Amino acid sequence: MKMINKDAEKYGELARDIGEIVISEEEIHRKVGELGARISEDYQGKCPVLVGVLKGVLFLMADLLRVIRIPVEVDFLAVSSYTQEARQKGVVRLVKDLEIPIHGRQVLFVEDVIDTGLTLNYLLRSLRQRQPASLDVCVLFNKPAHRLIDIPLKYKGFDLPDRFVVGYGLDHLERYRNLPFIGLLKAEVIQNPDHLSDCALH
Ligand code: IMP
Ligand code: MG
Repeated sequence: MKMINKDAEKYGELARDIGEIVISEEEIHRKVGELGARISEDYQGKCPVLVGVLKGVLFLMADLLRVIRIPVEVDFLAVSSYTQEARQKGVVRLVKDLEIPIHGRQVLFVEDVIDTGLTLNYLLRSLRQRQPASLDVCVLFNKPAHRLIDIPLKYKGFDLPDRFVVGYGLDHLERYRNLPFIGLLKAEVIQNPDHLSDCALH
């Protein structure tokens, strides 16, 4: 879906760098509503802990929580990569751990996007050691093209093509997370990062 003048007016300055909308705000809203309804039904009476990794999951987590109609708890992990080599194996350093003990709990891992699956696989292994009663995955954007590890996805929103996308939490150099849709950046923006205005100067 090409960006048209109407979109440019609606989304403003930030959307100037977007060449194409891949998934619209309305489609995301509808899908998150469906996922929330299924989760509410499947976890009725179980008070699950929803776990997300900062920061990409921020928008999905907030929207999902708003449409879930059963009691749930929410907690976050934050990770950073050690080295490029470690990253390629999915090994990450936990810079913020969960605050809620998940031993014996029903845990639903909520992810914005899965690409190779390496990071998620590493984190799931680590959480499994804490012996939750169940540990399942809900992902909104699935990129199957580069998947290296098969991870069962209990809830899945959209399959995305093998393209780098931004918006709805996903960033390019920490920008564009706050676009409410999923879009492709214009080629010149990816090729020339200097094009980004320097927020540190403001
Ligand atoms: P992987 O599944 O271990 O390859 O890593 C997935 C991580 O890569 C996600 O948590 C995102 O941070 C990042 N990522 C993958 N694809 C995209 C994209 O299209 N846009 C923005 N970030 C992405
Ligand atoms: Mg993520």
